[in-house]
Amino acid sequence: MTALLEADNISRHFRVRDSGRWFGGGATLKAVDGVSFRLDPGRTLGVVGESGCGKSTTARLALGLLPLSGGAVRFEGEPVRAANDAAWRLLRQRMQLVFQDTMGALDRRIAVGRQILEPLQIHGIGGPDEQRAQAMTLLEAVGLKPHVFDRYPHELSGGQRQRVVLARALILKPRLIACDEPIAALDVSIQAQVINLLLDLQERFKVAYLFISHDLKVVRQVSHEVAVMYLGRIVEQGAPGRLFRQPEHPYTRALVSAIPVASPQRTRQRLLLSGDPPNPVDVPSGCAFHTRCPSATSVCRARTPELRALPDGHRVACHLAHGDTGTHASVAA
Ligand SMILES: Nc1ncnc2c1ncn2[C@@H]1O[C@H](COP(=O)(O)OP(=O)(O)OP(=O)(O)O)[C@@H](O)[C@H]1O
Ligand SMILES: [Mg+2]
Repeated sequence: MTALLEADNISRHFRVRDSGRWFGGGATLKAVDGVSFRLDPGRTLGVVGESGCGKSTTARLALGLLPLSGGAVRFEGEPVRAANDAAWRLLRQRMQLVFQDTMGALDRRIAVGRQILEPLQIHGIGGPDEQRAQAMTLLEAVGLKPHVFDRYPHELSGGQRQRVVLARALILKPRLIACDEPIAALDVSIQAQVINLLLDLQERFKVAYLFISHDLKVVRQVSHEVAVMYLGRIVEQGAPGRLFRQPEHPYTRALVSAIPVASPQRTRQRLLLSGDPPNPVDVPSGCAFHTRCPSATSVCRARTPELRALPDGHRVACHLAHGDTGTHASVAA
C-alpha cells in the first residue's frame, strides 16, 4: 500500500545568532535532523517530546509549509515541496493544519459559518446553497447547533472554536490533518470532548492525523503509532501499547514515568531527568541524550545511535537497548 504521508530522512536547519559563542558568530540549529516516518490512510501518528524538540517544525515540513534542508516528503506518492504554486495549493486541499490558537486561526470579523465554507468559495466548489448546506452538515458533524453559523469567533468558547476550526479543516475532504497541540489551550473537561470528537471524525471521514501533544495520556489514547523526539531526532517509535508499557529509551522512560497514575492504589516510580535539555545549537556528541542519561557509557558519548528495529519491530535509537527484559545491557567502549 502506498503510504499517505512519508518522510524520508528530513531535516531543517536554521542559521541563528548564538550569543554564547566567541565573537558572537552565527550557529546552525538543527530543529529537525534526519527524521523518517510513514503514515497510512486513516491512521494516527502521535509525536511527543519536550518543548523545542522539533515537533511543530516536523509538521510544517510534512505539509510543505517550510522548505526542507534535506530529505524528502511524499504525500500519496507525490513529492511535497514548499512552493506556493497551483500544484502545491491542490495538494494542500488534502492536508490541513489545526493548532491550539483558535482565535489566531479564525478571522474575528467574519461569522464562523462563512469561515467554514470559505475554502469552498476559494476553490470554486459548488454554488452558494450547496456551500451553505455543506457547512451546516459539518457544523452538525462537529457537534455544534445550526445557529452557531451566524456567530462570531469571540462569541464562542475555546472548545466551540476548536470545533469550528475542525469543521473548516474538513470541508475540502482532506486525507490528513496535522493537529499541533489541538487541545493544549482548552479546559481539561473540554479536552476529553474534543479528543472524542477527533476520534469520531476519523472514523466518519477516514482522515489520518499527525497528532502532536505534550499530553502523553492523550497521545496513547488516539495514536496507532507513536514517535518520541529528542533534539530534532526520533529516539523511539512503535505501537503505543508497547511504547508506554515497556519503553526502551531512557528518555521515553522518564517521560512515561511522569504520566499521572489514575488509581491511588497504584504508584509509579518517577524517574527524574537530570539537567535541562542541552542548548540546541550545541548538541552533545554521540547520543544527544547522554548528558542526562543515568546509564550512559563511553560508547554513548562517542557514537550517535541510529534508530534501529528490535526483534519485535519496535524501534529505538539507544546503544544499550535490546528489548529483551526492558533493562539495559552494558556495552563496553
Ligand atoms: N524560524 C526559526 N528560526 C530559528 N529557530 C527556529 C525557528 N523555528 C523553530 N526554531 C527552533 O527549532 C527548534 C524546534 O522548534 P519547534 O517549534 O519545532 O519545537 P516544538 O517541539 O514544536 O516545541 P513546543 O513543544 O514548544 O511547541 C527549537 O529550538 C526552536 O527554537
Ligand atoms: Mg510546537
